[in-house]
Amino acid sequence: MRPRNKKNLEKRLDACSKYLVNAPESKKGNWKGSFKCVRLEIGCGKGGFITGMAEKNPDVLYVGIELVRSVIVTAAEKAAAAGVENVLFVNANALFIEDFFEEGEIDELYLNFSDPWPRDRYHKNRLTSDTFMPLYVKILKERGCLIQKTDNRDLFDFSLEIYKNYGCEFIRSSYDLHSEPWYGEIANVVTEYEERFLSLGVPINYAAVRMPERASIADKIAACEENIAKRKAFRSKARENKTETV
Ligand SMILES: C[S@@+](CC[C@H](N)C(=O)[O-])C[C@H]1O[C@@H](n2cnc3c(N)ncnc32)[C@H](O)[C@@H]1O
Repeated sequence: MRPRNKKNLEKRLDACSKYLVNAPESKKGNWKGSFKCVRLEIGCGKGGFITGMAEKNPDVLYVGIELVRSVIVTAAEKAAAAGVENVLFVNANALFIEDFFEEGEIDELYLNFSDPWPRDRYHKNRLTSDTFMPLYVKILKERGCLIQKTDNRDLFDFSLEIYKNYGCEFIRSSYDLHSEPWYGEIANVVTEYEERFLSLGVPINYAAVRMPERASIADKIAACEENIAKRKAFRSKARENKTETV
């Protein structure tokens, strides 16, 4: 059963290959082309948000990063069905975004319904943790914006604390986005997860923050890069060991 599914997945990926970037490192510094700017969604899931944003803003290039291949294929199929020409997808772990984007290359960053990692020992995996925040400050243009939506109040409160610690400027925040008088002003595109939570009556938390100046968190950027270098070394060692045992 499994190999057949895998074969089917490969076929589906081939059919929408124009939306998939297999070597994102090779596009580093060159994503924009003739577009006005490049905006990034991390953990784009099935792609409803990013394709919706692309339809609204045809002069902007939208890039979606997603860890799971069987999920990103649905996102690419959605973009193909909508016929948009300004969306690309990368199947990768966001931990390595520095390898894909040049300093300041991203205009705006979206985190929609990121995995909450509820246990304390896994908080470092949260997409708003110290593991990732310095990377965002680096790849975003100076004082670029991060926009987060989540159903999870614990993750949201954790994220608000982080934003304060980094000296981010709060543009807008809410514990119930869809009830805000200013909701119509932000031209929200509802994501697949958001749709599900809304149908259950769960309020959506929202924050739009402006990042601090890069120089003001230079120590955090250095610590983060050191941590990622260690992880990369660990990964390549693990790969080497695997090859040796095969
Ligand atoms: C809960 S889903 C939300 C999907 C979509 N944003 C939405 O709102 O419908 C979170 C997604 O983030 C992806 N993800 C989690 N950690 C990631 C990482 N480090 N890099 C890239 N994608 C990640 C997961 O695979 C999953 O598809």
